[in-house]
Amino acid sequence: MDLIVAGDRSELAKARGEGRVALVPTMGALHEGHRSLIRAARGRADQVVVSVFVNPLQFGPNEDFSRYPRTFDADLETCRAEGVDVVFAPSVEAMYQPDRQVEVTSGRMGTIVEGACRPGHFDGVLTVVLKLFNLVRPDLAVFGQKDAQQLALIRRMVADLDLPIEILGVPTVREPDGLALSSRNRYLSAGDRQVALSLSRALLAGVARSTPAEVRAAARAVLDDAPAELAVDYLALVDPATFTEVPDSYDGEAVLAVAAKVGTTRLIDNMIVTLGPRRSA
Ligand code: PAF
Repeated sequence: MDLIVAGDRSELAKARGEGRVALVPTMGALHEGHRSLIRAARGRADQVVVSVFVNPLQFGPNEDFSRYPRTFDADLETCRAEGVDVVFAPSVEAMYQPDRQVEVTSGRMGTIVEGACRPGHFDGVLTVVLKLFNLVRPDLAVFGQKDAQQLALIRRMVADLDLPIEILGVPTVREPDGLALSSRNRYLSAGDRQVALSLSRALLAGVARSTPAEVRAAARAVLDDAPAELAVDYLALVDPATFTEVPDSYDGEAVLAVAAKVGTTRLIDNMIVTLGPRRSA
């Protein structure tokens, strides 16, 4: 079947197929990480819908909304190659009413860690994700673990608002040298890219340890040794469901998350670490 491209809600409604529908929400500039989300969706549904929408609500006033990469023709090729059924690519006007008032609020969890650096970001993410859920009405929605706090908040929204949608998190795809794939990597110069490797190196050093104190110290040591061009926003070791810092006595899975600027490009990354006695079980 040919790929259907829907630009507004009525075209989308016409494109809806039978059976189980999976949604892969994206902001375009698709890369291998998105392909792995699409493949995960493909294996679990009869119809795969990919949304391509650079959502203004989730960018702060000094962030990169206007220069965010837009590569729509290449994105369509990627979707065709991956056997996507429908691409939903609305304009901002098709998505948001000019007099819109109501937004989703992400609660306390949206104001900590990444949310503390990007006020309002997660409200914007949850608002557009809820709208996409209502428009596409998927049975399953697929998100990357790379945006771990976003994934945790979407799970929270689904639970708190009783949305009948299964959420699947898919592991981060990395370059052979460890750099997490991101649409923003294309902003990095060759030199910036080398500096950016400190993020995954710090995470790897951390996740090789087994107590919270050791994990934090090992990761922090790598960041402290990183070139001066790396401006770290945070290093956090948090409960995957709540994103609150884990206590020293914590036992179980935690997320070690980092965010930093390299030049003008802000990058985030995270890895899951199993802490305490269960690690060797
Ligand atoms: O992860 C993203 O690309 C975006 O935050 C999302 C989920 C598509 C919402 O705009």
